[in-house]
Amino acid sequence: MTESVTITDNRTGESIEIPIVDGGIDAGSWKKLLGNIWFADPGFTQTAATESAITELDGEAGVLRYRGYPIEQLAEKSTYLEVAFLLIYGELPTPQQYEDWTHAITYHTFIHENVRKRTLEGFHHDAHPMGMLVSTVAALSTFYPEAKDIHVEEIRNKQIVRAIAKMPTLAAGAHRSSVGMPFVYPDNTLDFTSNFLSMMWKIAEPHYEADPVLSRALDVLFILHADHEQNCGTTAMRVIGSSHADPYSALAGATAALYGPRHGGANEAVIKMLTEIGHIDNVADYVKSVKEGKGRLQGFGHRVYKNYDPRAKIIKETADKVFEVTGKNPLLDIALKLEEVALADDYFVSRKLYPNVDFYSGLIYQAMRFPIEMFTVLFAIPRTAGWLAHWRELVLQDQKIARPRQLYTGSGPRDYVGIYQR
Ligand code: CMC
Repeated sequence: MTESVTITDNRTGESIEIPIVDGGIDAGSWKKLLGNIWFADPGFTQTAATESAITELDGEAGVLRYRGYPIEQLAEKSTYLEVAFLLIYGELPTPQQYEDWTHAITYHTFIHENVRKRTLEGFHHDAHPMGMLVSTVAALSTFYPEAKDIHVEEIRNKQIVRAIAKMPTLAAGAHRSSVGMPFVYPDNTLDFTSNFLSMMWKIAEPHYEADPVLSRALDVLFILHADHEQNCGTTAMRVIGSSHADPYSALAGATAALYGPRHGGANEAVIKMLTEIGHIDNVADYVKSVKEGKGRLQGFGHRVYKNYDPRAKIIKETADKVFEVTGKNPLLDIALKLEEVALADDYFVSRKLYPNVDFYSGLIYQAMRFPIEMFTVLFAIPRTAGWLAHWRELVLQDQKIARPRQLYTGSGPRDYVGIYQR
């Protein structure tokens, strides 16, 4: 039997039965009966903005899968570049596809010299690297004007490769410029994360050797951050993409959305919070102040997860491996105590507030010597794969331009009054 809902317009007595398909009801059927009645849903908490075959998330059960593959298996066995291919094209690559894909990404890591000299180095010395990233990604659209041809598969694929490949170069370049260090060119002999670490940290050595444990840990973090279905940044990507803007302009918008402290900026906020708490003895008082409404526990809570974020679990394990190399981050004890106190407190339990992906990631980044301003940048690099996967899906779906309605609550009609008559 088909499951359905029946909606009755009590003003007229008319009814319409709408089948439930894939867990949703079609707004088109609703429109037939209630054409001028809009869903009031700011924040899209109850709106499925699209069909998507990329990422499956069950927030109640704490489950995350990319194209059907559990995040735990991908984090253990795969690489970021393989996961990027999977997200974008729907299947794990064959050996030949993987070799071609890795080669293409590696050979597109260079950026145009004008992006480096005129754009990256044109910022004020204390510019935030996320601001620099947003701007330089947008600038790429002017260097690749053919990217506007979004309906040509070959052109689409080319921009996908370019964007994934150039993101670490732009990110590391933003950091180097903000600390007054010379730009480091990509090294094609290195893998994706080692190359990024080389561009971040290389000084005078002819060849930068990243610690393999740190390089792998970063790769795992990149896998965990690669996609998360219709979050704020991805929604921005899809909304901009739906107007058929080129992918770099859409990526710049998605990156800007990620910048906010409610989204990708939370890992930065976590470190600031832990530093402010300062000592495990202060944890209980801090939790009390949060319960009294004085701010939020950063890195806790999620719109979709009402259970432990599965990524947070993997990140906690990764942290142990990283700390063996770097030494323990002194803020870890405060974080562990905070989690213990919060998870034993009815305020957090009853609201289903658990640590999210950002709670422990900042501790790892800090132990790896990344400055706090780079944390959200480290989120944007891998999320580029997810954003592009959704952008490609949207283009192939030929989805309508995103254009929601509003419930107007402003003034009724009135006549203009000259400035000296007001
Ligand atoms: N600390 C204390 N109370 C909280 C928190 C928190 N971190 N998060 C939610 N609450 C409370 C909130 O006050 C509300 O309580 P009440 O019902 O009494 O008014 C209730 O829980 C529901 O909160 P909400 O604001 O309606 O939930 P939301 O789904 O709109 O917000 C969130 C989700 C992630 C924005 C929010 O939990 C938050 O601000 N968390 C801290 C910031 C953070 O860690 N963000 C990273 C999210 S994961 C990575 C990413 O998306 O980029």
